[in-house]
Amino acid sequence: MNENHAKLCPSPEWAAWLQGEVLPALTAGGVDLGREMLEVGPGPGAATDWLRHRVSRLVALEADEAAAATLTGKLAGTNVEVVSGDATAMDFPDGSFDSAGSFTMLHHVPTAALQNQLLAEVLRVLRPGGVLIGSDSLGSDGLHHFHVDDTYNPVEPATLLTRLQTLGFGKITVTVDHAVLFAAYKPDPDAKCED
Ligand SMILES: C[S@@+](CC[C@H](N)C(=O)[O-])C[C@H]1O[C@@H](n2cnc3c(N)ncnc32)[C@H](O)[C@@H]1O
Repeated sequence: MNENHAKLCPSPEWAAWLQGEVLPALTAGGVDLGREMLEVGPGPGAATDWLRHRVSRLVALEADEAAAATLTGKLAGTNVEVVSGDATAMDFPDGSFDSAGSFTMLHHVPTAALQNQLLAEVLRVLRPGGVLIGSDSLGSDGLHHFHVDDTYNPVEPATLLTRLQTLGFGKITVTVDHAVLFAAYKPDPDAKCED
């Protein structure tokens, strides 16, 4: 993360945007996060701090060791377990989580292939019927400049639905407004068909 992120991501304004706008929108309409949730790329934890009140156990998987150590200290004694590691190659067994979250982090994954690998890993570690909720910033010149000397690989919203579908997600919603928001479910072969 560059200096711009070091200022923005831990700020109260960023937490207010994620917690007041993005996360309520993503969980509106009866999205069930279940008991055990995985968050990939928590950074300073703006989303983590909101999500942890809505599940019994939250595992936050962070690639940056320093960020993981800081978040571990911040959330010590809570229901959050911070794990240092790469979400494109997770150690968790298949079907470990009821839900997963990815916020403002996919554009920090350097290639589309690695983004797909990360999303495929999320699908693998979700239980059947589990849901991935996510958000990311829309690509723009301003966002490009914000990422000077940093990874910048924004997700193209128009292709996201197809990518998620190709990876094997079932019911998928992609919404584009000030950011791209998405929810995608892992198919449950035992679920009753309501069609
Ligand atoms: C811009 S920050 C977003 C932090 C937080 N999700 C938020 O929205 O405030 C992106 C975070 O994703 C992490 N990250 C990037 N690639 C990752 C990967 N492959 N596995 C786990 N974390 C990753 C970065 O280290 C960074 O902390």
